[in-house]
Amino acid sequence: MNKKVIKLLDEQFNKEFYSAYLYLGIAKFFAQKDLPGFASWYKVQAEEEQEHAMKIYEYLLDQDQDVTLAPIGEVKVKFKDALEAVKAADEHEHYITDEIVKIMDAAVKDGDYRTQNFLNWFIEEQQEEETNSKEMVAKVQMLGKDAKNLYLLDKELASREG
Ligand SMILES: [Fe+2]
Ligand SMILES: [Fe+2]
Repeated sequence: MNKKVIKLLDEQFNKEFYSAYLYLGIAKFFAQKDLPGFASWYKVQAEEEQEHAMKIYEYLLDQDQDVTLAPIGEVKVKFKDALEAVKAADEHEHYITDEIVKIMDAAVKDGDYRTQNFLNWFIEEQQEEETNSKEMVAKVQMLGKDAKNLYLLDKELASREG
């Protein structure tokens, strides 16, 4: 495997754990705001991010490559309001999409078809993540100002299981 592709995948492994941390921070913010539905939704998302990291972990080990267990960066956990918190998630997903595309670029340049095939799952997943995070921002924009609507939205979000 190409050194650059390995390095980018290794770094992405860490970024997926960072994503999990970010979502846990958002979950905590909502829990402390007494919005348990939002908190639960972001906790499920945090778990999903760990699954993404583990996909990369398994892939690198399957290729007889190493995985660096580097420290996970500290995340911002203070938000002005619900809208700022869900917007942070949306911005982050766009950043992650860009990072996945960079790894794909490197795999394409290297003619590494196996890694391209592996990354296709992430490319699709990022579409889902961007759609979800965009819809979340729209919902909070539409409903977040009214306490009763926010309560109903919180109830709806509580139903996410994974
Ligand atoms: Fe992810
Ligand atoms: Fe997802």
